[in-house]
Amino acid sequence: MSSQPLSVVVLVSGTGSLLKAILDDTASPYRVDLVVADQLCAGIERAKNAGVSTAVVPVEADRAAWDAELAQTVAKTRPDVVVSAGFMRILGPEFLAKFEGHTINTHPSLLPAFPGAHAVDDALDYGVKVTGCTVHYVDAGMDTGEIIAQRAVRVEEGDTKSTLHERIKQAEREQIVDLLRRASISNGKVVFNGNSD
Ligand code: GRF
Repeated sequence: MSSQPLSVVVLVSGTGSLLKAILDDTASPYRVDLVVADQLCAGIERAKNAGVSTAVVPVEADRAAWDAELAQTVAKTRPDVVVSAGFMRILGPEFLAKFEGHTINTHPSLLPAFPGAHAVDDALDYGVKVTGCTVHYVDAGMDTGEIIAQRAVRVEEGDTKSTLHERIKQAEREQIVDLLRRASISNGKVVFNGNSD
């Protein structure tokens, strides 16, 4: 374990409200050194406003080249932890060769239920009464990596995608901040001390 603050890179694609929670965590024993997106987005603006370095790596037709560029961009800060927080892309083999075990993703369902980009819609369509959020290690699959923590969120009568997603995102924001506060590196991997809920 290191006594230095952990260096964190956050990957985003959109609004960046999870990123905001991470940046706003005044009790944080970690430091966000870089925010990377696949397109210009509100998350990049949030990072700039917070004085954090940013990079945009637009997806290319040549996915292997994009994967390599993303990996090189992230590697520049030598992060301890990479958080995929609303990053809507699958990370490729070169990225995972460098950062597997150090990369975690937050997903708006109780995996293994409802993987993929439409998790909230899929849960509503299915008619589940309880859904939630999951933080997991990222592997080569689509939301298939080892589960680190989950929180349940009840589906309320009359919920729409947006009301349900907002309640799930509230749980996601609390969960990711709680985990990052308890993160450390052990045997070449990010681990989380204490209980996960
Ligand atoms: C979160 O629900 C995340 O799990 C999903 O996209 C959402 C990101 O929200 N992949 P925001 O951009 O941080 O507001």
